[in-house]
Amino acid sequence: MDPRRIMELGILLLVTAFTLSGAASMKIQAYFNSTACLPCPHSKVQNMSLSELVVFWQDQKKLVLYEHYLGREKSNSVNAKYLGRTSFDEHNWALRLPNVQITDMGSYDCYIQQKRPTGSVILQQTNMELSVVANFSEPEIELAQNVTRNSGINLTCTSEHGFPKPMKMYFLIINSTNKQGDDMEISQDNVTELFSVSTSLSLPFPEDAYNVTFWCVLETKSMNISSRPFSVVLPEPRPVQENWRVTVVVAVVVAVLGAVLPLIIYFLCSCWSRRKDARRSRSRVASVS
Ligand SMILES: *[C@@H]1O[C@H](CO)[C@@H](O)[C@H](O)[C@H]1NC(C)=O
Ligand SMILES: *[C@@H]1O[C@H](CO)[C@@H](O)[C@H](O)[C@H]1NC(C)=O
Ligand SMILES: *[C@@H]1O[C@H](CO)[C@@H](O)[C@H](O)[C@H]1NC(C)=O
Ligand SMILES: *[C@@H]1O[C@H](CO)[C@@H](O)[C@H](O)[C@H]1NC(C)=O
Ligand SMILES: *[C@@H]1O[C@H](CO)[C@@H](O)[C@H](O)[C@H]1NC(C)=O
Ligand SMILES: *[C@@H]1O[C@H](CO)[C@@H](O)[C@H](O)[C@H]1NC(C)=O
Ligand SMILES: *[C@@H]1O[C@H](CO)[C@@H](O)[C@H](O)[C@H]1NC(C)=O
Ligand SMILES: *[C@@H]1O[C@H](CO)[C@@H](O)[C@H](O)[C@H]1NC(C)=O
Ligand SMILES: *[C@@H]1O[C@H](CO)[C@@H](O)[C@H](O)[C@H]1NC(C)=O
Repeated sequence: MDPRRIMELGILLLVTAFTLSGAASMKIQAYFNSTACLPCPHSKVQNMSLSELVVFWQDQKKLVLYEHYLGREKSNSVNAKYLGRTSFDEHNWALRLPNVQITDMGSYDCYIQQKRPTGSVILQQTNMELSVVANFSEPEIELAQNVTRNSGINLTCTSEHGFPKPMKMYFLIINSTNKQGDDMEISQDNVTELFSVSTSLSLPFPEDAYNVTFWCVLETKSMNISSRPFSVVLPEPRPVQENWRVTVVVAVVVAVLGAVLPLIIYFLCSCWSRRKDARRSRSRVASVS
Protein backbone atom coordinates (compact mmCIF):
# COMPACT_ATOMS: atom_id res chain seq x y z
CA MET A 1 0.00 0.00 0.00
CA ASP A 2 1.11 3.56 -0.67
CA PRO A 3 2.34 5.03 2.64
CA ARG A 4 0.75 8.41 1.89
CA ARG A 5 -2.64 6.81 1.50
CA ILE A 6 -2.24 5.17 4.90
CA MET A 7 -1.16 8.50 6.41
CA GLU A 8 -4.34 10.05 5.07
CA LEU A 9 -6.39 7.58 7.01
CA GLY A 10 -4.62 8.89 10.09
CA ILE A 11 -4.01 5.43 11.43
CA LEU A 12 -1.57 2.95 10.14
CA LEU A 13 -2.18 -0.72 10.63
CA LEU A 14 0.43 -3.23 9.72
CA VAL A 15 0.04 -6.74 10.91
CA THR A 16 3.19 -8.68 11.35
CA ALA A 17 2.74 -12.32 12.09
CA PHE A 18 5.30 -13.72 14.44
CA THR A 19 5.53 -17.14 12.92
CA LEU A 20 7.25 -18.69 15.92
CA SER A 21 4.87 -17.68 18.70
CA GLY A 22 1.76 -17.62 16.56
CA ALA A 23 0.81 -14.33 18.27
CA ALA A 24 0.15 -11.28 16.11
CA SER A 25 1.72 -7.86 16.67
CA MET A 26 0.26 -4.80 15.05
CA LYS A 27 1.82 -1.43 14.32
CA ILE A 28 -0.47 1.50 14.88
CA GLN A 29 0.33 5.08 14.02
CA ALA A 30 -1.60 8.12 15.18
CA TYR A 31 -1.11 11.85 14.83
CA PHE A 32 -0.24 13.79 17.95
CA ASN A 33 -3.38 15.04 19.72
CA SER A 34 -5.64 12.96 17.45
CA THR A 35 -7.62 9.89 18.48
CA ALA A 36 -5.77 6.60 18.34
CA CYS A 37 -7.74 3.46 17.70
CA LEU A 38 -6.51 0.34 19.50
CA PRO A 39 -8.13 -2.67 17.86
CA CYS A 40 -8.92 -6.03 19.41
CA PRO A 41 -8.96 -8.67 16.70
CA HIS A 42 -11.53 -11.34 17.56
CA SER A 43 -11.15 -13.82 14.73
CA LYS A 44 -10.95 -16.73 17.17
CA VAL A 45 -14.21 -15.90 18.92
CA GLN A 46 -16.33 -15.06 15.92
CA ASN A 47 -19.24 -17.15 17.09
CA MET A 48 -19.35 -15.44 20.51
CA SER A 49 -20.91 -12.19 21.62
CA LEU A 50 -19.47 -9.49 23.89
CA SER A 51 -21.96 -10.45 26.61
CA GLU A 52 -20.21 -13.79 27.06
CA LEU A 53 -16.69 -12.39 27.18
CA VAL A 54 -14.33 -10.16 29.06
CA VAL A 55 -12.38 -7.80 26.78
CA PHE A 56 -9.68 -5.54 28.19
CA TRP A 57 -6.57 -3.57 27.21
CA GLN A 58 -3.32 -3.14 29.14
CA ASP A 59 -0.38 -0.85 28.49
CA GLN A 60 3.25 -1.95 28.73
CA LYS A 61 3.20 -1.40 32.50
CA LYS A 62 0.19 -3.73 32.74
CA LEU A 63 -2.07 -0.81 33.69
CA VAL A 64 -5.63 -1.47 32.53
CA LEU A 65 -6.99 1.13 30.07
CA TYR A 66 -10.49 -0.28 29.79
CA GLU A 67 -12.49 -3.42 30.58
CA HIS A 68 -15.67 -4.65 28.94
CA TYR A 69 -17.03 -7.27 31.34
CA LEU A 70 -19.78 -9.58 30.10
CA GLY A 71 -21.36 -6.90 27.96
CA ARG A 72 -20.80 -3.77 30.00
CA GLU A 73 -18.05 -1.38 31.04
CA LYS A 74 -16.38 -2.16 34.34
CA SER A 75 -14.10 0.42 35.83
CA ASN A 76 -12.84 -1.19 39.10
CA SER A 77 -9.60 -2.40 37.58
CA VAL A 78 -9.05 0.57 35.23
CA ASN A 79 -6.02 2.65 36.17
CA ALA A 80 -6.78 6.21 37.27
CA LYS A 81 -4.57 7.50 34.46
CA TYR A 82 -7.04 6.15 31.90
CA LEU A 83 -10.36 6.61 33.73
CA GLY A 84 -12.75 8.60 31.57
CA ARG A 85 -10.20 8.96 28.84
CA THR A 86 -11.14 6.06 26.60
CA SER A 87 -14.23 4.96 24.75
CA PHE A 88 -15.14 1.51 23.47
CA ASP A 89 -16.44 0.90 19.98
CA GLU A 90 -18.70 -2.17 20.32
CA HIS A 91 -19.10 -2.51 16.58
CA ASN A 92 -15.37 -2.89 15.83
CA TRP A 93 -14.22 -4.09 19.26
CA ALA A 94 -11.77 -1.17 19.27
CA LEU A 95 -10.69 1.23 21.99
CA ARG A 96 -10.46 4.92 21.18
CA LEU A 97 -7.76 6.91 22.93
CA PRO A 98 -8.27 10.63 22.23
CA ASN A 99 -5.66 13.43 22.41
CA VAL A 100 -2.76 11.07 21.96
CA GLN A 101 0.48 12.37 23.44
CA ILE A 102 4.07 11.40 22.72
CA THR A 103 4.15 9.70 26.13
CA ASP A 104 1.39 7.34 24.93
CA MET A 105 3.81 5.70 22.52
CA GLY A 106 4.57 2.12 23.34
CA SER A 107 3.23 -1.37 23.49
CA TYR A 108 -0.37 -2.34 24.29
CA ASP A 109 -2.17 -5.68 24.64
CA CYS A 110 -5.79 -6.55 24.12
CA TYR A 111 -7.14 -9.69 25.80
CA ILE A 112 -10.33 -11.63 25.14
CA GLN A 113 -11.13 -13.82 28.09
CA GLN A 114 -13.84 -16.33 28.82
CA LYS A 115 -15.17 -17.05 32.30
CA ARG A 116 -15.58 -20.76 32.76
CA PRO A 117 -16.63 -22.69 35.84
CA THR A 118 -13.06 -23.92 36.02
CA GLY A 119 -11.61 -20.39 35.78
CA SER A 120 -10.75 -17.76 33.20
CA VAL A 121 -9.31 -18.71 29.84
CA ILE A 122 -7.66 -16.30 27.42
CA LEU A 123 -9.11 -17.01 23.99
CA GLN A 124 -7.19 -14.37 22.06
CA GLN A 125 -4.41 -11.91 22.83
CA THR A 126 -3.09 -9.19 20.51
CA ASN A 127 -0.01 -7.10 21.02
CA MET A 128 0.24 -3.72 19.31
CA GLU A 129 2.86 -1.01 19.06
CA LEU A 130 1.55 2.55 19.05
CA SER A 131 3.71 5.22 17.46
CA VAL A 132 2.80 8.90 17.48
CA VAL A 133 3.82 11.38 14.80
CA ALA A 134 3.37 15.11 14.34
CA ASN A 135 3.85 17.06 11.11
CA PHE A 136 6.44 19.82 11.31
CA SER A 137 5.12 23.27 10.41
CA GLU A 138 6.05 24.66 7.00
CA PRO A 139 9.64 25.95 7.32
CA GLU A 140 9.87 29.73 7.45
CA ILE A 141 12.82 31.86 6.38
CA GLU A 142 13.65 35.11 8.15
CA LEU A 143 16.39 37.67 7.69
CA ALA A 144 18.60 37.80 10.79
CA GLN A 145 20.00 41.14 9.73
CA ASN A 146 19.09 43.80 7.16
CA VAL A 147 21.01 43.32 3.95
CA THR A 148 23.53 45.64 2.41
CA ARG A 149 26.18 44.61 -0.09
CA ASN A 150 28.81 44.74 2.67
CA SER A 151 26.88 42.92 5.41
CA GLY A 152 26.11 39.91 3.26
CA ILE A 153 23.07 37.75 3.84
CA ASN A 154 22.19 36.15 7.19
CA LEU A 155 19.12 33.96 7.17
CA THR A 156 17.49 31.61 9.64
CA CYS A 157 14.94 28.95 8.85
CA THR A 158 12.66 27.46 11.51
CA SER A 159 10.06 24.73 11.70
CA GLU A 160 8.12 23.66 14.78
CA HIS A 161 6.17 21.02 16.68
CA GLY A 162 7.11 17.85 14.84
CA PHE A 163 7.83 14.28 15.83
CA PRO A 164 9.99 12.26 15.48
CA LYS A 165 13.30 14.10 15.05
CA PRO A 166 13.86 15.31 11.49
CA MET A 167 16.87 14.22 9.48
CA LYS A 168 18.11 17.35 7.70
CA MET A 169 17.39 21.01 7.17
CA TYR A 170 19.11 23.14 4.55
CA PHE A 171 18.83 26.10 2.21
CA LEU A 172 18.68 25.97 -1.57
CA ILE A 173 19.50 28.96 -3.77
CA ILE A 174 17.57 29.43 -7.00
CA ASN A 175 18.88 27.28 -9.87
CA SER A 176 21.42 25.56 -7.64
CA THR A 177 21.23 22.06 -6.20
CA ASN A 178 23.88 22.78 -3.54
CA LYS A 179 22.50 22.30 -0.06
CA GLN A 180 23.73 25.12 2.16
CA GLY A 181 23.56 26.20 5.77
CA ASP A 182 24.86 25.34 9.21
CA ASP A 183 23.97 22.17 11.07
CA MET A 184 20.39 22.26 12.30
CA GLU A 185 19.69 23.02 15.93
CA ILE A 186 17.06 20.88 17.58
CA SER A 187 15.08 21.73 20.70
CA GLN A 188 12.41 19.71 22.44
CA ASP A 189 9.37 21.04 24.25
CA ASN A 190 9.59 19.72 27.80
CA VAL A 191 5.79 19.32 28.05
CA THR A 192 4.64 18.02 24.66
CA GLU A 193 8.02 16.43 23.76
CA LEU A 194 7.63 17.77 20.22
CA PHE A 195 10.72 18.99 18.38
CA SER A 196 11.49 22.37 16.83
CA VAL A 197 14.41 22.92 14.49
CA SER A 198 16.29 25.83 13.01
CA THR A 199 19.28 26.40 10.82
CA SER A 200 21.08 29.50 9.63
CA LEU A 201 23.01 30.63 6.61
CA SER A 202 25.55 33.42 6.16
CA LEU A 203 26.97 34.24 2.79
CA PRO A 204 28.30 37.30 0.98
CA PHE A 205 25.94 38.94 -1.47
CA PRO A 206 26.70 37.57 -4.97
CA GLU A 207 28.71 40.18 -6.81
CA ASP A 208 26.67 40.65 -9.93
CA ALA A 209 23.24 40.09 -8.34
CA TYR A 210 20.68 42.42 -6.81
CA ASN A 211 18.04 39.85 -5.96
CA VAL A 212 18.68 36.32 -4.64
CA THR A 213 15.91 33.78 -4.00
CA PHE A 214 16.17 31.04 -1.36
CA TRP A 215 14.22 27.99 -0.25
CA CYS A 216 14.53 26.04 2.93
CA VAL A 217 13.85 22.31 3.03
CA LEU A 218 13.19 20.07 6.01
CA GLU A 219 13.69 16.36 5.43
CA THR A 220 11.92 13.93 7.71
CA LYS A 221 11.67 10.19 7.43
CA SER A 222 8.24 10.31 5.81
CA MET A 223 8.36 13.55 3.80
CA ASN A 224 10.27 16.62 2.66
CA ILE A 225 8.71 19.97 3.50
CA SER A 226 9.74 23.08 1.62
CA SER A 227 9.36 26.71 2.65
CA ARG A 228 7.93 29.35 0.36
CA PRO A 229 10.59 31.06 -1.78
CA PHE A 230 12.23 33.98 -0.02
CA SER A 231 13.83 36.77 -2.06
CA VAL A 232 16.56 38.98 -0.67
CA VAL A 233 16.75 42.24 -2.56
CA LEU A 234 19.57 44.76 -2.22
CA PRO A 235 18.24 48.17 -1.16
CA GLU A 236 20.81 49.98 -3.31
CA PRO A 237 19.72 51.05 -6.83
CA ARG A 238 20.99 49.18 -9.86
CA PRO A 239 23.67 51.32 -11.52
CA VAL A 240 25.45 50.94 -14.93
CA GLN A 241 23.69 47.94 -16.50
CA GLU A 242 20.21 49.30 -15.97
CA ASN A 243 21.21 52.89 -17.01
CA TRP A 244 23.30 51.76 -19.96
CA ARG A 245 20.57 52.36 -22.54
CA VAL A 246 19.61 55.70 -21.04
CA THR A 247 23.24 56.80 -21.13
CA VAL A 248 23.56 55.87 -24.80
CA VAL A 249 20.34 57.67 -25.69
CA VAL A 250 21.44 60.79 -23.83
CA ALA A 251 24.89 60.65 -25.47
CA VAL A 252 23.37 60.32 -28.93
CA VAL A 253 20.98 63.17 -28.28
CA VAL A 254 23.81 65.33 -27.01
CA ALA A 255 26.05 64.38 -29.96
CA VAL A 256 23.31 65.05 -32.47
CA LEU A 257 22.37 68.33 -30.86
CA GLY A 258 26.08 69.24 -30.66
CA ALA A 259 26.53 68.62 -34.38
CA VAL A 260 23.24 70.02 -35.58
CA LEU A 261 22.89 73.14 -33.42
CA PRO A 262 25.88 75.00 -34.95
CA LEU A 263 24.53 74.20 -38.42
CA ILE A 264 21.11 75.55 -37.53
CA ILE A 265 22.69 78.62 -36.02
CA TYR A 266 24.89 79.01 -39.09
CA PHE A 267 21.89 78.79 -41.42
CA LEU A 268 19.85 81.18 -39.32
CA CYS A 269 22.72 83.66 -39.25
CA SER A 270 23.48 83.36 -42.95
CA CYS A 271 19.79 83.87 -43.81
CA TRP A 272 19.66 86.87 -41.58
CA SER A 273 22.85 88.38 -43.07
CA ARG A 274 21.67 87.66 -46.64
CA ARG A 275 18.44 89.47 -45.96
CA LYS A 276 20.43 92.36 -44.51
CA ASP A 277 22.69 92.41 -47.60
CA ALA A 278 19.62 92.40 -49.81
CA ARG A 279 18.10 95.29 -47.89
CA ARG A 280 21.43 97.17 -48.03
CA SER A 281 21.78 96.67 -51.82
CA ARG A 282 18.14 97.69 -52.31
CA SER A 283 18.76 100.94 -50.42
CA ARG A 284 21.94 101.47 -52.40
CA VAL A 285 19.98 101.11 -55.67
CA ALA A 286 17.42 103.57 -54.33
CA SER A 287 20.04 106.14 -53.42
CA VAL A 288 21.71 105.80 -56.83
CA SER A 289 18.42 106.35 -58.61
C1 LIG B 1 0.53 15.50 7.76
O1 LIG B 1 1.10 15.56 6.48
C2 LIG B 1 0.56 14.63 5.55
C3 LIG B 1 1.34 14.71 4.27
O2 LIG B 1 1.45 16.03 3.83
C4 LIG B 1 -0.92 14.95 5.34
O3 LIG B 1 -1.48 14.02 4.45
C5 LIG B 1 -1.63 14.88 6.67
O4 LIG B 1 -2.97 15.26 6.52
C6 LIG B 1 -0.98 15.78 7.70
N1 LIG B 1 -1.61 15.51 8.97
C7 LIG B 1 -1.88 16.44 9.85
C8 LIG B 1 -2.55 16.01 11.10
O5 LIG B 1 -1.58 17.60 9.66
C1 LIG C 1 -5.13 19.31 21.11
O1 LIG C 1 -6.47 19.27 20.62
C2 LIG C 1 -7.35 20.07 21.37
C3 LIG C 1 -8.74 19.88 20.78
O2 LIG C 1 -9.01 18.54 20.65
C4 LIG C 1 -6.93 21.51 21.29
O3 LIG C 1 -7.78 22.32 22.07
C5 LIG C 1 -5.51 21.64 21.79
O4 LIG C 1 -5.07 22.97 21.62
C6 LIG C 1 -4.60 20.72 21.04
N1 LIG C 1 -3.28 20.79 21.64
C7 LIG C 1 -2.17 20.87 20.93
C8 LIG C 1 -0.90 20.95 21.70
O5 LIG C 1 -2.17 20.86 19.71
C1 LIG D 1 -17.39 -21.33 19.11
O1 LIG D 1 -16.58 -22.13 18.28
C2 LIG D 1 -15.57 -22.85 18.98
C3 LIG D 1 -14.74 -23.57 17.97
O2 LIG D 1 -14.34 -22.71 16.96
C4 LIG D 1 -16.20 -23.82 19.96
O3 LIG D 1 -15.22 -24.47 20.71
C5 LIG D 1 -17.10 -23.06 20.90
O4 LIG D 1 -17.80 -23.96 21.71
C6 LIG D 1 -18.11 -22.21 20.12
N1 LIG D 1 -18.85 -21.40 21.08
C7 LIG D 1 -20.13 -21.15 20.95
C8 LIG D 1 -20.70 -20.28 22.02
O5 LIG D 1 -20.79 -21.59 20.06
C1 LIG E 1 15.75 46.53 9.14
O1 LIG E 1 15.34 47.77 8.62
C2 LIG E 1 14.04 48.18 9.03
C3 LIG E 1 13.72 49.50 8.39
O2 LIG E 1 14.12 49.50 7.07
C4 LIG E 1 14.00 48.33 10.55
O3 LIG E 1 12.69 48.64 10.97
C5 LIG E 1 14.40 47.00 11.17
O4 LIG E 1 14.46 47.13 12.57
C6 LIG E 1 15.76 46.55 10.64
N1 LIG E 1 16.03 45.21 11.18
C7 LIG E 1 17.21 44.86 11.62
C8 LIG E 1 17.34 43.46 12.13
O5 LIG E 1 18.16 45.62 11.63
C1 LIG F 1 16.98 30.03 -13.38
O1 LIG F 1 16.54 29.11 -14.38
C2 LIG F 1 15.46 29.58 -15.16
C3 LIG F 1 15.06 28.49 -16.13
O2 LIG F 1 15.40 27.25 -15.66
C4 LIG F 1 15.86 30.84 -15.90
O3 LIG F 1 14.74 31.33 -16.61
C5 LIG F 1 16.31 31.89 -14.89
O4 LIG F 1 16.78 33.01 -15.57
C6 LIG F 1 17.42 31.35 -14.02
N1 LIG F 1 17.71 32.34 -13.00
C7 LIG F 1 18.96 32.64 -12.61
C8 LIG F 1 19.09 33.67 -11.57
O5 LIG F 1 19.92 32.07 -13.11
C1 LIG G 1 10.29 23.66 30.72
O1 LIG G 1 11.49 24.36 30.53
C2 LIG G 1 11.43 25.71 30.89
C3 LIG G 1 12.77 26.35 30.60
O2 LIG G 1 13.49 25.64 29.66
C4 LIG G 1 11.12 25.85 32.38
O3 LIG G 1 11.00 27.20 32.71
C5 LIG G 1 9.82 25.12 32.67
O4 LIG G 1 9.58 25.15 34.06
C6 LIG G 1 9.89 23.69 32.18
N1 LIG G 1 8.59 23.06 32.37
C7 LIG G 1 8.45 21.84 32.85
C8 LIG G 1 7.07 21.34 32.97
O5 LIG G 1 9.42 21.15 33.13
C1 LIG H 1 26.13 37.63 9.51
O1 LIG H 1 27.10 36.74 8.97
C2 LIG H 1 28.43 37.21 9.07
C3 LIG H 1 29.32 36.17 8.43
O2 LIG H 1 28.98 36.00 7.11
C4 LIG H 1 28.79 37.44 10.52
O3 LIG H 1 30.10 37.99 10.57
C5 LIG H 1 27.81 38.39 11.14
O4 LIG H 1 28.09 38.53 12.52
C6 LIG H 1 26.41 37.87 10.97
N1 LIG H 1 25.46 38.82 11.52
C7 LIG H 1 24.44 38.46 12.25
C8 LIG H 1 23.54 39.55 12.72
O5 LIG H 1 24.20 37.29 12.53
C1 LIG I 1 13.30 39.04 -6.94
O1 LIG I 1 13.18 37.77 -7.62
C2 LIG I 1 11.96 37.10 -7.39
C3 LIG I 1 12.03 35.77 -8.10
O2 LIG I 1 12.81 35.79 -9.23
C4 LIG I 1 10.81 37.93 -7.89
O3 LIG I 1 9.59 37.27 -7.61
C5 LIG I 1 10.82 39.27 -7.18
O4 LIG I 1 9.79 40.08 -7.71
C6 LIG I 1 12.15 39.95 -7.37
N1 LIG I 1 12.15 41.17 -6.58
C7 LIG I 1 12.64 42.32 -7.04
C8 LIG I 1 12.51 43.51 -6.14
O5 LIG I 1 13.17 42.38 -8.12
C1 LIG J 1 13.65 14.05 0.20
O1 LIG J 1 14.62 14.59 -0.67
C2 LIG J 1 15.80 13.80 -0.83
C3 LIG J 1 16.76 14.50 -1.74
O2 LIG J 1 16.69 15.86 -1.61
C4 LIG J 1 15.43 12.45 -1.42
O3 LIG J 1 16.59 11.65 -1.50
C5 LIG J 1 14.40 11.79 -0.53
O4 LIG J 1 13.98 10.59 -1.12
C6 LIG J 1 13.20 12.68 -0.31
N1 LIG J 1 12.34 12.04 0.67
C7 LIG J 1 11.02 11.94 0.53
C8 LIG J 1 10.27 11.24 1.61
O5 LIG J 1 10.45 12.42 -0.44
